[in-house]
Amino acid sequence: MQPLLDRLGRPLETLRVSITDRCNFRCVYCMPKEVFGRDYAFLERRELLTLEELARVVGLFAALGTRTVRLTGGEPLVRRNVEHLVELLAAIETPTGEPLELALTTNGSVLAQKAEALAAAGLTRVTVSLDSLDDEAFRAMNDVDFPVQRVLEGIDAAAAAGLPVKINAVVKRGANDGDILALAEHFRGSRHVLRFIEYMDVGSTNGWRLEDVVSADEIVRRISERWPLEPAELERPDATARRWRYADGGGEVGVVASVTQPFCGGCSRARLSAEGRLYTCLFAARGHDLRAPLRLGASDDELTEQLRGIWTRRTDRYSELRTAETASLPKVEMSYIGG
Ligand code: GTP
Ligand code: 5AD
Ligand code: SF4
Ligand code: SF4
Repeated sequence: MQPLLDRLGRPLETLRVSITDRCNFRCVYCMPKEVFGRDYAFLERRELLTLEELARVVGLFAALGTRTVRLTGGEPLVRRNVEHLVELLAAIETPTGEPLELALTTNGSVLAQKAEALAAAGLTRVTVSLDSLDDEAFRAMNDVDFPVQRVLEGIDAAAAAGLPVKINAVVKRGANDGDILALAEHFRGSRHVLRFIEYMDVGSTNGWRLEDVVSADEIVRRISERWPLEPAELERPDATARRWRYADGGGEVGVVASVTQPFCGGCSRARLSAEGRLYTCLFAARGHDLRAPLRLGASDDELTEQLRGIWTRRTDRYSELRTAETASLPKVEMSYIGG
């Protein structure tokens, strides 16, 4: 099969699927309480793609060559019956006969209860967001007073269920940059891969300022002053994270430098919102509505043609272009599109 390429020659490898715009956390850099309060209009149930609709769309992407599907949110594990969705996705046939790689990005709050069922349903791996090991700092960052211990239990449960685990730590200056070494130390030598993430200017509600970004260079420098690091190769050509290996054999650590070292050149990711809009960039202002044709009875061929058309016209490379001009354009919220 000829790979489907966009205008910049990038294939469609990964589909990130937001299955809910809701979350039980209110991380200060993502869903500030002042904006996402009681009156906030989250999507209503009937607006969400059903699990069957989601599986149908993912099936069409798989037929076009998509190999990885990542479930995101909001917080994907607050969606009812997510285990059943995983089961439906695990059953999808691909052109190569290889099953889809099924990943999940979660805040870990209910992972201890759900890890085993998710693994049994066919989840391939899990990524847990964890910005600090310091209970007080963690509670302040999630802003709902959620204890860090429960997330650590979720990580252990995922590993016990046989799921490979990655840890994502968004670094915000003044909030948790003092916790970088403690996080590195905790996960050094463990089987879990820790990645530090530059705080990004996603959405328009988190009050992002360049001064709050701690660059990947600074993060790597701070870690290697304590434990020397050597560069390692990318996990795959379209990876978000640059990898570094501990010289003493303590494993690896990654940095996602989308602000200071953008990686649009290899970006093979499409994003589907919970209400069925397809976005060709994390920073896109608008998505393409797939729900209307789905619910109006479009055939698989018709939907596939629409997907092909959207991808082949794609030119997005926001992070590489990021300028004062692009920064002021309207952008979709992180909690709506799932990172
Ligand atoms: P792996 O396949 O495990 O490497 O996952 P990933 O890094 O692609 O996904 P994850 O959900 O763990 O995201 C890590 C960080 O990278 C988050 O802060 C995401 O918002 C960010 N991210 C993921 N994809 C993109 C992208 O295409 N562009 C930008 N700018 N950031 C991205
Ligand atoms: N910048 C960088 N990463 C972010 N995430 C949420 N908001 C931001 C932001 N402003 C992270 C989450 C999660 C992943 C999907 O994106 O912590 O790990
Ligand atoms: Fe929820 Fe994740 Fe956003 Fe935090 S970063 S508010 S856990 S969606
Ligand atoms: Fe892809 Fe857009 Fe992120 Fe660039 S900014 S890597 S094009 S999602």
